[in-house]
Parts: sequence; C-alpha cells; structure tokens
Amino acid sequence: METGRQPFEQPGLGIGQRNASHTDLGESQLTRPPPQPLHQRLRIPEMPALLATMHPPILGSRTYTWPDEAACAAFAADVAAALARRPAPADAYIELRGPLGAGKTTFVRHLLRALGVVGRIKSPTYAVLEPYSLPGLNISHFDFYRFTDPREWADAGFRDLFAQPGLKLAEWPENAAAVLPPADLRLTIEPLDGEVREVRAEAATACGLALLP
Ligand SMILES: Nc1ncnc2c1ncn2[C@@H]1O[C@H](COP(=O)(O)OP(=O)(O)OP(=O)(O)O)[C@@H](O)[C@H]1O
Ligand SMILES: [Mg+2]
Repeated sequence: METGRQPFEQPGLGIGQRNASHTDLGESQLTRPPPQPLHQRLRIPEMPALLATMHPPILGSRTYTWPDEAACAAFAADVAAALARRPAPADAYIELRGPLGAGKTTFVRHLLRALGVVGRIKSPTYAVLEPYSLPGLNISHFDFYRFTDPREWADAGFRDLFAQPGLKLAEWPENAAAVLPPADLRLTIEPLDGEVREVRAEAATACGLALLP
C-alpha cells in the first residue's frame, strides 16, 4: 500500500496555480493556502492544552440579586418550570460555583422540590453523588468538594451518567475540571451582606439559555 500521501495531493500544483478541472474555485483558493490555526502560526505548543481548560464560549449571561433565601427558591422554581418545558427526556448540566456556604446546595434543594422530589435531600459532600429518580427524569446531584482521584470518574460510573440524558447538577466542578464536560449553564453565587447573594448566570448552550428566568 502506498503510504505518506494525502488522498487529494496533486503533484505539480503550486500556490496560485489553478487546477483546470476545478472550474468553480473561488478567488481565495486561487491565491492563498488555507489559513493555519492560530497556535501554529504563533508557534505556541501549549495552546491546545490551554484551550481545553477554558470555559466554552458564552451564549448569554445575566446577573441576578437574591435578597434572601425566598428569592433563591423563586429562581429555582423558574428554572424547574423551564426544565419541564424542555423536550423529553430532559438533558441539562448545571454547574454551581461559589464559596463554602454560598447557597449551592440550598439552590439544588429548592430546584429538586420544585421538580417534585419528596423526602430528604442530602448534601452529597461525602458521597459525591446523590441520585434521584422522577417519572421521566433522572437527576444526579454531585458535590466534587472531596473529589481527588479522577479514576473515580469512570470507576463510580459518573462518566456513564453524564453520557445519558438527565439533569446533572455539580457543586465544586473546579475539582473535577479535567473530567467534566462543559456545562450548559454555570451559576456563580457570591454572598454579600446577610442573606443577600449576587448570582451570575452564564449559558454556554441554547439549553442553558432556555433555563434562565
Ligand atoms: N439568599 C440565599 N440563598 C441561598 N441560601 C441562603 C441565602 N441566604 C441564606 N442562605 C443560607 O445559606 C446557607 C447556604 O448553605 P449551602 O449548604 O447551600 O451552601 P453551599 O454553597 O452548598 O456550601 P458548600 O460549598 O459547603 O457545599 C444555608 O443555610 C441557607 O439557608
Ligand atoms: Mg453544598
């Protein structure tokens, strides 16, 4: 087998020359080679690795103020209503950022209640995952605060969960950034005075955008 040759390689055809059989070639194809990716032109070898760690492009962002926990509950109820309007089976990944005690678990509790979860809603700080099952909707609530071994990602079945439709919610996603997929929606909760929280919502997909109140 002949090796080292690209399927469309044409000997003797240089830049600026035209292959007579390609009568529909545009102007740019006649005069310029295809553009090189930026990181090759800049000769920065680390660029692909750097790009992999960056947040995906943001489709839309909004900032909200929750004056108290009731406002957090109202926001969560709006997100639940938007989720219920999504085509079944609902499939969305929301990551929750913010310092200890910001209100990440509190938001998840209000969201799950609004979706119809009954019974105790535990913080998954020790178990990493608390799963819930509603008719037609599987929910996975993760807390990666104590997540230190990326092997657990596959071993505990987390990779499989993310490959299936369902609602995934993750606290402390920064601790599992190497294995987590990009989120549809990122909520960053910043505690201000007392119960006041400033919440920045960044949607990276149409699904994430559709969930925003
Ligand atoms: N506006 C608010 N929104 C959400 N929670 C609030 C608000 N005001 C007060 N709280 C209280 O703040 C606390 C937030 O705790 P929570 O466990 O939700 O934090 P967390 O962000 O999940 O922290 P951790 O990083 O430890 O998991 C709760 O006791 C909640 O009642
Ligand atoms: Mg929490």
